[in-house]
Amino acid sequence: MSQGAFTRMEVAISARGLVKNYREGGLLRRRTEVRALDGLSFEVGYGKVFALLGPNGAGKTTTVRIISTLLLPDEGEVTVAGFNALRSPRKVRERIGVVLDPDKGHFLRLTALENLTFYGTLQGLSRSEARSRASALLGEMGLNGSENRMVEGFSKGMRARLAICRALIHDPEVLIFDEPTSGLDPISAREVRAKLRELGREGKSVLVTTHNLWEAESVSDEVAVVNRGKVVAAGPPQEVKRAFGLKWYVELEVEGRLRPEELPWMAEVAVSERGILTLKIAVDADPAELIPAIVSELRSRSLTVHSVTVREPTLEEAFVRAVSGAGR
Ligand SMILES: Nc1ncnc2c1ncn2[C@@H]1O[C@H](COP(=O)(O)OP(=O)(O)OP(=O)(O)O)[C@@H](O)[C@H]1O
Ligand SMILES: [Mg+2]
Repeated sequence: MSQGAFTRMEVAISARGLVKNYREGGLLRRRTEVRALDGLSFEVGYGKVFALLGPNGAGKTTTVRIISTLLLPDEGEVTVAGFNALRSPRKVRERIGVVLDPDKGHFLRLTALENLTFYGTLQGLSRSEARSRASALLGEMGLNGSENRMVEGFSKGMRARLAICRALIHDPEVLIFDEPTSGLDPISAREVRAKLRELGREGKSVLVTTHNLWEAESVSDEVAVVNRGKVVAAGPPQEVKRAFGLKWYVELEVEGRLRPEELPWMAEVAVSERGILTLKIAVDADPAELIPAIVSELRSRSLTVHSVTVREPTLEEAFVRAVSGAGR
């Protein structure tokens, strides 16, 4: 597939000022409007894995459907792979692979290989091209033993993998996955996450939604935290943590006599049964460079340091702060 204008671009997906209201009710009930997106903006860099992270109802699926050209926004602009998704949806569709509901869209009475071959030909591949690519993808996703089985007998996890194969059949530049690991067992979920990372390494641009904070952190180069249709924090996971003023904790187990108020840093001190003290020191930045200084300070006070543990702030904390409006 031609990379065309895309190789000259830095931004694979750009969403600017998206607004979407859903209308509910009608004949018998009063019409009400739900504002699903409220001026949502973000950019996915070329070759990046980008996670849209947010709680239920935040607007993730609505965003993904707009970017995939399946839904029109009330306001805003979207470009994907260099094309305006609102004015040139066909051009965008040729360049994206989408997994929305991994359980849906399969022909249950066809085999996995037949399903993928069919989708490949729909995307413009020759039959033989589609077949060999389908076979290779099924192998990559661990479905090679099942390629000639009818999809009606597939488990949820197998259907989810097949949906990923389908999104990749035409080797698109941009991939869009809505909660691709939802409902999968831990092993299937791990394999899907590995695939997302691999796509990133191959230089594909990937947009993935999740409400699993650890997942966002483990697969993505950048995250945008979405709440009530707006991005409330964005950047590399580390930066999001910093922007929210999250703390790292250094925990040290030490032995000896200690007056905490004499220490140069604020530390919580707990005494264990064996007379070992646990010091917990909160720091604002990655404490890697600070640790030798902390240890030598403690040694200079005749304390024996038994262990040092660093606890990183997690996106979970960033998420709770973003959603509760703190840290802004
Ligand atoms: N077809 C619809 N009709 C009416 N309201 C809708 C419709 N689809 C979504 N909404 C509403 O829009 C808001 C955003 O929904 P959306 O599905 O985009 O959120 P989400 O972040 O994907 O949530 P989840 O994590 O539960 O999948 C919610 O308040 C939801 O109730
Ligand atoms: Mg959703």
